[in-house]
Amino acid sequence: MSSSVAPPENIVLIGFMGCGKSTVGRELHQRLGFPLADMDQIIEQRAGKPITSIFADEGEQAFRDMETALLKELGEPDAPRRIISTGGGVVVREDNRGLIRNLGYVVWLDAPIKVILERTRKNRTRPLLLTDEDPEVIIRNMMEARRPFYQETAHLKLDTGGLDSGELATGILECARYHFSNRP
Ligand code: S3P
Repeated sequence: MSSSVAPPENIVLIGFMGCGKSTVGRELHQRLGFPLADMDQIIEQRAGKPITSIFADEGEQAFRDMETALLKELGEPDAPRRIISTGGGVVVREDNRGLIRNLGYVVWLDAPIKVILERTRKNRTRPLLLTDEDPEVIIRNMMEARRPFYQETAHLKLDTGGLDSGELATGILECARYHFSNRP
């Protein structure tokens, strides 16, 4: 069936906490000039409180509902072309994976557990890591559970270890241009 509405050409960054989605998102935004939608930031602004408080007051499922609603909004037919940086757990819901895939070119930023551990160690803004359990075990288990979802949702996987955000952005832009220019 043909449609008069062109498919969205957003670039969407997915991946585990601490893989650099927000930093690479800002770099892509600066290079392309497309607006940046950092989903965690938007949700916090709208809720008027940090994610830790959303989880504490309303629970994780309420936060996941906010993510789903925002993905739907970002995919509305008249939405501008954007760089979209997602939260690490957005892929857990099957509906979200479909919504993300429909937004445009999806890039999975991956990093070794040790790197994630180091990057998230001092940060107290991630409720799922604020427990008494060994963070390495939590991260390893969560990563194992989510890996298939990132894999299934992404067009491209990039290992971020050893590359700075500028190099990652260059790689993403080349691949995205190729993707968008070769679509049927
Ligand atoms: C989460 C990741 C966070 C944030 C929330 C839940 C997760 O985003 O959405 O704390 O479930 O992995 P970042 O990946 O930007 O840290």
